[in-house]
Order: sequence, then structure tokens, then C-alpha cells
Amino acid sequence: MKKRICVLLICFLCGCSIQSQKDTVSNQTDHLSLTKSRVQIALNTQFDYLQYVSCDSKKDVQYNIIDTSKIGTYVIHYKYHNDSEDFIVDVVKMYKNKIFNPIGIKTNIIKNPKDITVLVNKLNQIPDNWVPDDLVKVVDSHQKLRQEAAQAYKEFYQAAKSQGINIYSISGYRSNETQTLYWNNQVKVRGEEYASQYSAYPLRSEHQLGLAIDVSYKTDGDRLNEDVEKSPIGKFIVSDGYKYGFILRYPKDKVSITNYGYEPWHIRYVGKALAKKLHQSHMTLEEYYEVMN
Ligand code: DAL
Ligand code: ZN
Repeated sequence: MKKRICVLLICFLCGCSIQSQKDTVSNQTDHLSLTKSRVQIALNTQFDYLQYVSCDSKKDVQYNIIDTSKIGTYVIHYKYHNDSEDFIVDVVKMYKNKIFNPIGIKTNIIKNPKDITVLVNKLNQIPDNWVPDDLVKVVDSHQKLRQEAAQAYKEFYQAAKSQGINIYSISGYRSNETQTLYWNNQVKVRGEEYASQYSAYPLRSEHQLGLAIDVSYKTDGDRLNEDVEKSPIGKFIVSDGYKYGFILRYPKDKVSITNYGYEPWHIRYVGKALAKKLHQSHMTLEEYYEVMN
């Protein structure tokens, strides 16, 4: 009797362990996952629905079709056995280097606009009516930044000055009204393609965070153009900006990642720790957050 109970017990335990191994194996290999969560595609192009899907049998994946003939943000619901995942596709007017027109695209509203490392771009916007509450004038100018950024900017400015480099502070904090005026004016004067390259749509500008400032080597004429790159201040931004917590936010070789044209004049305060990390790894804020997720 004792022997029979023992055998039964062993069988029961073995059965359990085989079963649980099977479960583990099937859970590990045969489930649905997406290699990305959001992409932008050009208007009137075809979307490859299984491109970002990962599972054992792609033919068994079900999903809804989106209308790529209309600008907008669409959700694709994928189903595979008991798994489901959502994926966002923005159908956009796309220009060169993946720069896209922000009109008609739904954004994610950031929850932490006070965080100095926050990501604001064409897809991540500042909440309506949010205004920084600690704006102060920056050194030598009536332009404003948030207090911590203004203090860091002063150190940056003085370090440049001690090397004989003058910095002219052109445009710091912008209210929503000002950013709206800038955007509308760019569209009117230079068209939507140009505006999409060099101007942020209202509520999607880092200037509204009070953490970005445009600087130049001269006070008059066309002060914000690619000549800034070759000027002493342009070089100082790249070599030393990170020591004070600033990054060059829209670099020349990252246009397809930031989705903005090259802006050697636009610096963004992110704090010394993150600025150093981004400088050493040659990453943009977009890349940093992609790696973090
Ligand atoms: N020029 C940058 C993209 C802005 O308007 O915020
Ligand atoms: Zn700027």
C-alpha cells in the first residue's frame, strides 16, 4: 500500500513538472509581441502590417486595416490566440529625412512638464494651459528660462566669455500664444514644409518648457542659420555645452530621428548628468527614451 502511494506521488509530481515545463516553453516562444509601438508612414503608401509583429505563426495574427489615404493617427489592434497588442500608425505628409508635417497627428500629452529631462517633440506635447512657474530672466538679456536652466546658462555664458566668446541670447521661453504666432507665420511666409522643419507646432515646442534657448554669434540680421555651426559659440556648444547641462537638441546627423532640420543654435537644458550621458553616447533625447523603454 505504502509502495503504491509512493509511486502515485512520484507520477503526480513528475506530471506536474512536465506540465509546468510545457507551459513555460509555450509562454516563452509562442506569444505576440511588437518590436515597436508607433511609426509614421507617408500618406498613400502601403503599410506592411506584419513588419513589427513577432510570434511563431504570423499567418494566425488578426488585425484591422487602416486608411492610409487620410492623414491621421490610427490604432491597429493585433490578436494572436489569447494575446493582443495595440500599435499606433500616424499617416503623415512626409518630407525629406523623415521630417513630417505635425498637422492632424494625435499626440501623447506629457504628465511631467516640470521634469527637466522630459521629452517634448512632434508626438509628445505639453498639457494645455501649462506654464512654468519659475521663469527668470537670463544673464545679459530679457529672454527667460526656468530658474535652474537660467543659472546653468549663466555658468555656460560666463565660461564662454572667459574664452573670449560672446553669446547672444535670441529666444528663450515662449508662451503658447508666441509659439502659435511663430508657427502660423512660418506656414504663411515659407509654407508647411519649411515650418515642419524648423518650427514646432504649438504645445510641442521645448521653448514652452522654459528649458530651451536659441543663441547666436551676432545680434542682427539673419542670426539663426547654419553659420552658427562654424562660429565660436557653435563650436563651444558642441564641445562644452554638456558640462553645464545643455545639449544640441537637433544635430545634423540626427534629422531622421528628431524629425526636425539641423539647428546649431537651439540648446536644451536637461541637467548635467543626462547631458553628459547624451554627449558621451552621442544620443538624442529620442534615442535615450527609446533605449530606456
Ligand atoms: N525650432 C524648434 C523646433 C521649436 O520651434 O521649438
Ligand atoms: Zn529653438
